[in-house]
This record gives sequence, C-alpha cells and structure tokens, in this order.
Amino acid sequence: MAKVIALFNQSGGVGKSTLTMNLGYHLAKEKRVLLIDIDPQASLTLFMGLEPSEISETIYDAIINDIPAPIKNIGQGIDLLPSNINLSGAELELVNTDMRDYRLRDVIEKISDSYDFILIDCPPSLGLLSYISLVAADYVLVPVQTQYKSFMGTELLLQTVGRVQKRPNRQLKIAGFVPTMYSSQNSQDVRAVEAIEFQLKGIARVFPPIKRATAFADSVEKHLPLFLYDKSQPALKILDEIAQYLQELVA
Ligand SMILES: Nc1ncnc2c1ncn2[C@@H]1O[C@H](COP(=O)(O)OP(=O)(O)O)[C@@H](O)[C@H]1O
Ligand SMILES: [Mg+2]
Repeated sequence: MAKVIALFNQSGGVGKSTLTMNLGYHLAKEKRVLLIDIDPQASLTLFMGLEPSEISETIYDAIINDIPAPIKNIGQGIDLLPSNINLSGAELELVNTDMRDYRLRDVIEKISDSYDFILIDCPPSLGLLSYISLVAADYVLVPVQTQYKSFMGTELLLQTVGRVQKRPNRQLKIAGFVPTMYSSQNSQDVRAVEAIEFQLKGIARVFPPIKRATAFADSVEKHLPLFLYDKSQPALKILDEIAQYLQELVA
C-alpha cells in the first residue's frame, strides 16, 4: 500500500504545488509515484504539462461521481490525478454527501497498491477539500514561506491537523516543515527561519530552507522538474534530503 503525503498550508503562493511536483520527481527516481491535484486552480496539473480546461474527467468525478480515478501517465515514472475548475463546486456538493470525509480516502484505497508514494497537493484553504486530503493522508508535509505573516498561520494549520487527528484520522502524522522562498540577504527572512526552527522543531523535522530562485518558475514553465532543468540548483540537495527522509520514515 502506498504512503500518502498531503502537502498542506492554507496560504497560497508558499510553494506547495512546486514542491509537490519536484518532490514527486525526486521520489520517482526509485519509487512509484502518483501526484493528486485537489486544488480547483489546478496549478499542479498545469505545471505537469496538461491543459486543465481540456481534461474531461478529473479528481472531481472520482470523489463526487464515484468513477474510477482518471489517472494520467506523465512519464519519468510519475502519474497524475488531475484537477480543473469543475472542482470548485465540490466543497458545496460535498456538504450533503454521505461519508464525505472519506471520499478521497476511498478513491485512493482502490489505487493504492500501484504506488509507493501518493502526494496530494492541497488547495490554499482550510476548507473541505483540504480536510478530506488530511483524512486520506498518512503524513502531512508543510511548506512554510519564510515570512513572519506566513509563519503566524502555522498555528491555525496545526489546529486543523489536530482536529483531523482527534477523530477521522488518528494515524495522521506530521512529516515535517519545509521553509520556502528564503533569501539569506533579507534579514526578515533570516529571522523568520530562526523562528520557524525554534517553534516547530519540537513538533517535527524542520528541513533546511529552500531559497528563492527564478529557476523554479522557469523549469515549471517548461514542465520540467528542477533537476532536469538545471543540475546546479542548491535546492536539489534539499529535495533529495526530503525524499530520502520520507523513504526512511515509511520504511
Ligand atoms: N523557491 C522558490 N523560489 C522562487 N519562486 C518559487 C519558489 N517556489 C515556488 N515559486 C514560484 O512561486 C509561485 C507560487 O508557487 P506555488 O508552488 O504555485 O505555490 P502554492 O501551491 O503554495 O500556491 C509560482 O510561480 C512558483 O513558480
Ligand atoms: Mg498550489
């Protein structure tokens, strides 16, 4: 059975989708990997080279209409369960759906044997789509932007994780925190990283910060993982470290 990891932070633009994609490719060097896009904005689907508006069946149809997961093979050992804007209605529709908390978990259970790792790219909200992702996950990995404002949001985030751990998913664990978009020249960023390490290291592993680099956006534009785009990027070492840690964690 695959280990399911939700990349979760209710703030947008902290690098969730970028990290999901790149971590997916690093894990896929040795493991079978499925990426699930559960954000109606479908950034991950776009990053992986698919045009969301042209996809007829998505994660939406799997969780709402009970069809088998419409998985796309992307190449390089990676599969994608895509999203598009149809998913934006799902939160409202889910409210009155029976067993709604388990909708994504049920979809994943049926395909879990085909993978070693399933990464879920959560939307930037604390809503139902994020909630059912946490219910379906074994671990949550939290990208945190190295800014004070973003760091303040982690308390609310941890409360949500705690709420899920209390009932629908007692097994859920925090795999770690990944500081992102770090600039060592910026004293506010430096202080934020120190605060993140100090406050969060007692909860789970805090990985070294991923620096702000235009190569992330540039590689995504070409639908390439960072390591195929530019082998010299310092972030590659951190991505390997996270991938290694996740493999040891689940071994
Ligand atoms: N480390 C980084 N340095 C610079 N830009 C980044 C970095 N990580 C992500 N980005 C860019 O920031 C934007 C938001 O990233 P994204 O992964 O979509 O965030 P989220 O999924 O949290 O909304 C994208 O344009 C992406 O290319
Ligand atoms: Mg995103």
